[in-house]
Amino acid sequence: MKRTRIGGRRGAELSRKDFLRLGGAGLAGAALLGAAGCGGGGESSSGEVIFSWGPDDTGVLPKLIQKFNEQHKGEFQVRYREMPSDTGQYFDQLRTEFQAGGGDTDVIGGDVIWPAQFAASGWISDLSDRFTDTDAFLPGPMQAMTYDGKVWGVPWYTDSGLLYYRRDLLEQAGFSGPPATWEELKEMGLQTKQDTGTQLGFAFQGAEYEGGVCNGLEYIRTHGGEVLDPNDPSKVIIDSPESAAGLETWHSMIEDGVTTQAVLQYKEDESYGAFIRGDAIFLRNWPYVYALLSNPEESEITPDQVGVAPIPVSEGNQSYSTLGGWNFLINAASDVQDEAWEFVRWMTDPEQLKTNAIEGSRLPVRRSLYEDQEVLEKVPVARLGKEAIIDNATPRPVSPYYSDISLELAEQFNAALAGDVSPEQAVKTLQSDLQSIVEEGQAAG
Ligand code: GLC
Repeated sequence: MKRTRIGGRRGAELSRKDFLRLGGAGLAGAALLGAAGCGGGGESSSGEVIFSWGPDDTGVLPKLIQKFNEQHKGEFQVRYREMPSDTGQYFDQLRTEFQAGGGDTDVIGGDVIWPAQFAASGWISDLSDRFTDTDAFLPGPMQAMTYDGKVWGVPWYTDSGLLYYRRDLLEQAGFSGPPATWEELKEMGLQTKQDTGTQLGFAFQGAEYEGGVCNGLEYIRTHGGEVLDPNDPSKVIIDSPESAAGLETWHSMIEDGVTTQAVLQYKEDESYGAFIRGDAIFLRNWPYVYALLSNPEESEITPDQVGVAPIPVSEGNQSYSTLGGWNFLINAASDVQDEAWEFVRWMTDPEQLKTNAIEGSRLPVRRSLYEDQEVLEKVPVARLGKEAIIDNATPRPVSPYYSDISLELAEQFNAALAGDVSPEQAVKTLQSDLQSIVEEGQAAG
């Protein structure tokens, strides 16, 4: 399947990429080449591979792309197309482009929650024949790339919710280690805030968006609740005392003054912003924040002031964190499938994953890297990752209707956090709304 751009979706507009691709088809004469200002130097007619992804706060991605391009001079080049940092907005933009016939991208840096939906819609390429060393990758991310018995993406890095804590401030307040339970987190946060004059006990992602869903799920699961029945994903089971208790604990973070009302709008940036400015004792965030701490231009605090621990539990329950992570998907409508694959293959070589781990503090997806001494030495989060984090990381519901499910979760979680609805009401509303989404989806599907 080819993208039809000229005279089609994009009208008469001729992008550099279209231009290079059409060059070989007789459209491009030398005069036109000059007129379009493409430079015309050196590149093959297969042109560029466009790679879409959100902004990279750690700066590692542009460096890797530059390295790839240097190694592939005279073959083809990769161009980074920056997408919104909010995964929901990024998803919406891609969906709109796919629905309009393909979109201006070849390789997609895609969220772990996307493959089922994109695959069910026929928007991404089945990679089962190309991607053969799947056993070398961690099972969680691989499971998330598998839908309908086929593999739709190559894992890039895996994310897992972590609890960052200010070791130095806790010590000043007389605490020797991180909290194991939510109750302890609250007590320690309030006490340390008072003793050290720190603004916030706890910063996290409470806004109405995907990150809020990831946080809310951690409270529900660490209280013994769940959204869909793991044995029968067409069955919604969120309406339980356990799920309600989870949302109650979440809301108590605001009610008891451990955090601020402003957390209702916090996404990743606002929450880690408070932490790296030195304004928060605890932070729930993803592994990459560790890399930001090591950069004095970004951070007022240094890694030695910070410890990392698993997400707390409620008494008698097990720790869970939400499995996140990013993966390479190939647009089914791209006309440079081979080049796209070459880029994906290169980016997921151990060497590149290692750079991403060491410089970007992103948890590697290849098992072998958890035995790599340099990674273990230089990436404290990876040391913690294997046992305490990866084993606890639980995917969000894998469903072709996930984006609709997520919108409902985001709304009710945020309202329950704010105290606008009771936790019991929130889980009741979700029970019936999610059941309708699943049933309507199945009926349509
Ligand atoms: C991180 C995770 C991703 C998640 C997002 C939510 O980027 O890797 O899976 O959806 O945060 O904000």
